Amino acid sequence: MKRVLVTGAGGQLGAALCEAFAGEDLVALTHADWDVTLPAPPGLPAPGLVLHAAAWTDVDAAEDDPQGAAAVNIGGAQHAAALGAPLVHFSTDYVFDGQKRAPYVESDSPNPLSAYGRTKLLSEAAAGEDAWIVRTSWLFGASGKNFVRTMLRLGVERDEVAVVDDQRGCPTYVGHLAAAVRELVELPRGIWHLAADGECTWAELAEAVFEEAGVDCRVQRIASSELGRPAPRPAYSVLRSERPRAPHLPHWRDGLRECMERL
Ligand SMILES: NC(=O)c1ccc[n+]([C@@H]2O[C@H](COP(=O)([O-])OP(=O)(O)OC[C@H]3O[C@@H](n4cnc5c(N)ncnc54)[C@H](OP(=O)(O)O)[C@@H]3O)[C@@H](O)[C@H]2O)c1
Repeated sequence: MKRVLVTGAGGQLGAALCEAFAGEDLVALTHADWDVTLPAPPGLPAPGLVLHAAAWTDVDAAEDDPQGAAAVNIGGAQHAAALGAPLVHFSTDYVFDGQKRAPYVESDSPNPLSAYGRTKLLSEAAAGEDAWIVRTSWLFGASGKNFVRTMLRLGVERDEVAVVDDQRGCPTYVGHLAAAVRELVELPRGIWHLAADGECTWAELAEAVFEEAGVDCRVQRIASSELGRPAPRPAYSVLRSERPRAPHLPHWRDGLRECMERL
């Protein structure tokens, strides 16, 4: 049995990783247990594997406080790497600019549009050459703050919701990602794209949520410019792996069904 240390264990991915690695000697650390902008607290038992899921994930707030986001995302990765154990670090589709119209693979050049994306790209370097860098996208799970849970709440409150229809990506269920990470740690280190099969826009995802939940709520398809959020997002950020042995994740619609069974 391996000692597996999970940072950000209170987040949606952290919680899923704790479930997937429950058979190991698990050390689950929430934000309260370890603020990763600081070095690890003294007395932490030496881990055999670190799953670093703590991060600044508020994409819009990072525009106003890029240094705060950098302290968590870049500083946190450095501190996680300093534990000296094999490290799985999580990054994002937002390292790409979305100009491509075919799936992004590991060898494509990043060009982040937002402060959040820039901190995540730098965090990949901070995690070091000896880490697994997992780029994933549009995460949702049965806990935490995410698009699926927000839509379910709005869907019962309103007759119609306005949702952007000009961003295309891979909505990924954290349970499926956590299972893929179990496979990944048997494979060579480096950058890996791990996202759900299939692709859609946020509006299409909202429609699927309402369909699966049997909620009668219309989706008004709007442009990102109409929403006017502070951080620019890539218009297209579908992730696929070009690596022959990459773990394969189920389709996002299957992830949505599995997630909703747990809500
Ligand atoms: N969410 C997405 O759509 C998405 C997409 C692509 C990649 N990712 C990446 O996937 C990873 C996991 O994301 P997630 O969706 O699980 O995010 P999440 O639900 O927001 O969880 C992040 C966790 O990090 C904790 N945290 C924040 N600042 C911290 C600090 N200074 N020290 C220690 N913990 C801190 C948060 O705690 P508090 O809430 O208490 O602050 C939270 O529990 C991140 O690396 C993220 O960049 C996410």
